Amino acid sequence: MKVNFKIIRQQYNSPAVVQNYILETEPGNTILDCLNRIKWEQDGTLAFRKNCRNTICGSCAMRINGRSALACKENVGNELARLPQQSDGIPEISIAPMGNMPVIKDLVVDMNSFWENLEAVAPYVSTAARQVPEREFLQTPQERSQLDQTGNCIMCGACYSECNAREVNPDFVGPHALAKAYRMVADSRDTDTANRLENYNEGTKGVWGCTRCLYCDAVCPMEVSPLEQITKIKQEILSHKQASDSRSIRHRKVLVELVKAGGWIDERQFGLQVVGNYFQDLRGLLSIAPLGLRMLIKGKFPLSFEPSEGVEEVRSLITAVKAED
Ligand code: FES
Repeated sequence: MKVNFKIIRQQYNSPAVVQNYILETEPGNTILDCLNRIKWEQDGTLAFRKNCRNTICGSCAMRINGRSALACKENVGNELARLPQQSDGIPEISIAPMGNMPVIKDLVVDMNSFWENLEAVAPYVSTAARQVPEREFLQTPQERSQLDQTGNCIMCGACYSECNAREVNPDFVGPHALAKAYRMVADSRDTDTANRLENYNEGTKGVWGCTRCLYCDAVCPMEVSPLEQITKIKQEILSHKQASDSRSIRHRKVLVELVKAGGWIDERQFGLQVVGNYFQDLRGLLSIAPLGLRMLIKGKFPLSFEPSEGVEEVRSLITAVKAED
């Protein structure tokens, strides 16, 4: 079958252009096989990364039909089935470089920020506070199994490429780094958990910068589920910190307490407790005063609060989930 590969081509700091390459191929051929053939048979100037050809090295991540994926994992048949095609004409597959990283050439991106953000979470097991054993640091099979999911990460950059939080917040370290961060928190040999949690709790560069769009989980080719790992770090932070410690922590704790009290959120209390820190943060209170005033004038400020129906049921659910944790 003939397929038209619409490839975004670009030189560093230059506008991108779309180039079409028509290839005779089979549904079972991987996208990487097709790119190799385009390069070898049609255009030797096309640039892309590859190495293992077997979903191991993470080199060949790129945007295929609009989402980041490994070119050596996805095949022509599945890609054509994913998107509706024009019934007449040659079916098309679009290929573009990953997002959130500048293009060096064609499908090759500069991954410096990706690696620097990984470095920022100290992705090494710290045993500095422990006496070095005569032989190795041992783990039970159960302790080791805590690392299985995050250990699958091949650092391809697909999650980072699609991260909406990273796109708008250059401080956010990204889902790949935080998935690795949880791998360190979960490692029974690591002795630096308290410092790590402080670091990952800071501002919006760590876990609180995540907008929970879930796209990282959706595109991860190794089912590492970065968002799930970010959520586990948040749970660790919340279990070690008080509501007064930061606005992000208050946001979570106050939300649960208000829902537990009334079945849904009393928004008046929510603003005052989270932003105003229970009337202790004058600057915070002043920052929401204009909004409160505008809402009052427009008749949108709730003057009273009625608990929701089934509040007892909501409470018992929250209690049951906490007991399960
Ligand atoms: Fe190694 Fe695709 S070439 S993961």
